[in-house]
Amino acid sequence: MRCLAKGSGLEIKVMRIGFYQFTPIPKKVKLNLDRIKSALSHIQADLIVLPELCATGYLFTSRSELSKYAEPVPDGPSCMTFLDLCRTYNLNIVFGMAERNSNKIYNTAVLITAEGKVHCYRKAHLFLNEKDRFDPGNTRFQVFQINSTKVGMLICFDYFFPEVARSLALAGAQIICHPSNLVLDYAQKMTFTRAAENRMFWILANRTGREESGAKTIIFTGRSQIVGPDGRLLYRAGSDTEELPVIEIAPSDALDKKVTPRNDLFSDRRTDLYQS
Ligand code: ACM
Repeated sequence: MRCLAKGSGLEIKVMRIGFYQFTPIPKKVKLNLDRIKSALSHIQADLIVLPELCATGYLFTSRSELSKYAEPVPDGPSCMTFLDLCRTYNLNIVFGMAERNSNKIYNTAVLITAEGKVHCYRKAHLFLNEKDRFDPGNTRFQVFQINSTKVGMLICFDYFFPEVARSLALAGAQIICHPSNLVLDYAQKMTFTRAAENRMFWILANRTGREESGAKTIIFTGRSQIVGPDGRLLYRAGSDTEELPVIEIAPSDALDKKVTPRNDLFSDRRTDLYQS
């Protein structure tokens, strides 16, 4: 975090945020972790978001196959690798992984902070065949602190449920970290709306490439992006390129929920008319 002094003597904190868009090699965990480690070494950034299931790839033929690749948090190789990276480079990382917890397997996003804190979010809305592979998440939509900035996590298909982003916004999230393996072509467009309707920064870290398993082929759509609280595109990656952009933002911009001088996103809500 850097501080910029404004003319009035006020300080605004600047955060360097980004994502790593790449093509993981299916089921080659060590290769993928080594590749991420090498890409992120010496990076000058405060927060980097990686895709969903970034070390294993996405497609598994069965739950028992997935089970071979699921790791405990924080003692598995993925968390250990990122703990080391975060401490060494004073970095905060959000990444997606298959988490083993007793007899459960979760599709999990993990935030590892530069001080070595580990926070988890387990995907609540499982997509298509994930329903036969993973257990649905049981963690609430919570925010976590990176220095004085509050961040929230959701995973891929969770974007389809506006309640998720709204819950995180109401909990104070200024930045949403969104590890993804997106396949629906309009997904990126929807996250513009989620960012603007909650006035939050949104880091969508998608992957590229394709995976095949038997007769099934999935093509991942890339186009990872960072959107501002006003719905403006701050960075967009290509649909099939490896990219590691870092941009500067002022997280405090996401604290202002005013849409017009007379409209506040939160205080204008008509909860008396909404269905729960
Ligand atoms: C998805 O939720 N991985 C599409």
